[in-house]
Amino acid sequence: MEQYVIKGGVPLEGEVVIAGAKNAALGILAATVMTDDVCIVENVPYVSDTRTLLKAIENIGATVEYIDRHTVRICAKGILSDENLSVDDEYIRKIRASYYLIGALLGKYKYADVALPGGCDIGARPIDLHIKGFEKLGADVSIISGGKIVARAEKLVGSHIYLDTVSVGATINIMLAAVLAEGKTTIENAAKEPHIVDVANFLNSMGANIKGAGTDVIRIRGVARLHGSEYSIIPDQIEAGTFMAMAVATRGNILIKNVIPKHLESISSKFTEMGAKVIEYDDSVRVMADGDLRSTHIKTLPYPGFPTDMQAQMAVTLALATGTSIVTESIFENRFRYVSELNKMGANIRVEGNTAIISGVPRFTGAMLTASDLRAGAALVIAGLAADGYSYIDEIKYVLRGYEDFDEKIRNLGGGIEIAESEEDITRFKLKVV
Ligand code: UD1
Repeated sequence: MEQYVIKGGVPLEGEVVIAGAKNAALGILAATVMTDDVCIVENVPYVSDTRTLLKAIENIGATVEYIDRHTVRICAKGILSDENLSVDDEYIRKIRASYYLIGALLGKYKYADVALPGGCDIGARPIDLHIKGFEKLGADVSIISGGKIVARAEKLVGSHIYLDTVSVGATINIMLAAVLAEGKTTIENAAKEPHIVDVANFLNSMGANIKGAGTDVIRIRGVARLHGSEYSIIPDQIEAGTFMAMAVATRGNILIKNVIPKHLESISSKFTEMGAKVIEYDDSVRVMADGDLRSTHIKTLPYPGFPTDMQAQMAVTLALATGTSIVTESIFENRFRYVSELNKMGANIRVEGNTAIISGVPRFTGAMLTASDLRAGAALVIAGLAADGYSYIDEIKYVLRGYEDFDEKIRNLGGGIEIAESEEDITRFKLKVV
């Protein structure tokens, strides 16, 4: 089984280039099935989640071609959506974002039959708001045993939709269906994440009429059809934040390139509070830390609040800061499963409900660890890089879902990390990093 083997204790230094945003890519790639024309999408991160979604899209009849590692040409003309088309294969159930195909296919064909989503197990992740939105647009939605959603409509008609909870997935999914509905749709209490804006910009580049993406009221005027487009995806805010945390935890100095600094504000301000230095340039940030770090408190919130997807990586840096920090997780209920792993390394963290109380320690010691989800896995890698000695991390498939060339990028910064498949690989690695 593949695992990361890490030799920690080296400050990471150098430059890293951030890939396209995974969560924007998933919405945008799903949206390409809404036109019969060709779409060319650039800056697609080469990670297992995007490759899986592309496989699923290909399996329902679209042609998908990688022009280069980050540019994909998709033509969905071959999709023949009718009552026989069911999107259910080994790929679709692997990723949660496959639910975007419900909104996209329902919008285009007024019919969608898609297996229920998988993804990371970070607590109950209902899709009631997605379903409520589709129903408001006039669709009949049923959940079939075996874990499938079937949505159909004579026609979709624009509506006023209020989301009880701010949901990234529901906002994007309803937006997808509504762009091809008749008349006007308003989504209130919409999510405002940068990837919502990116998906809306892509849909507008295909001829949709969406206004207000990035605010909490999105107004959509339905159009009859969408056309092909060429589009480049925004940089990944969370990958950038993860490398920022790596610089801080290892007391390093990293220039993080291809970012939109504005998207990183909530993260930058926390690292600054902790005593790290964050310098913003036009499309890069430099993060430096040396000496003692100070404790602080964080609470995860929808954008522009502190992202839940950075909670675990941030906690690693706080666990190495002087004093007590409180981390409150207000989006997902099961996002502290990395804590027991960090405590094995010498961290002092106590979880009470949705709060982690972190008493900082001067250093971690390497340990045998298991990733429980994508961001928890990234956090354990950061912890391993900051720790004395060797760490071994299992279940790296989670990390590969969302970080492109993670180990290679870290090696380029001087970090000791390798993917090992056998004892021999581990021995070879140890001889190399001694
Ligand atoms: C997306 C991101 C994920 C990120 C999360 C929050 C993708 C592919 N994934 O996930 O990385 O952690 O946003 O920023 O973009 N909820 C409901 N009913 C619903 C939908 C959501 O109650 O129908 C609740 C969820 O349980 C959660 C909250 O709303 O408590 C936010 O979830 P949501 O924003 O929908 O997360 P995802 O879109 O699944």
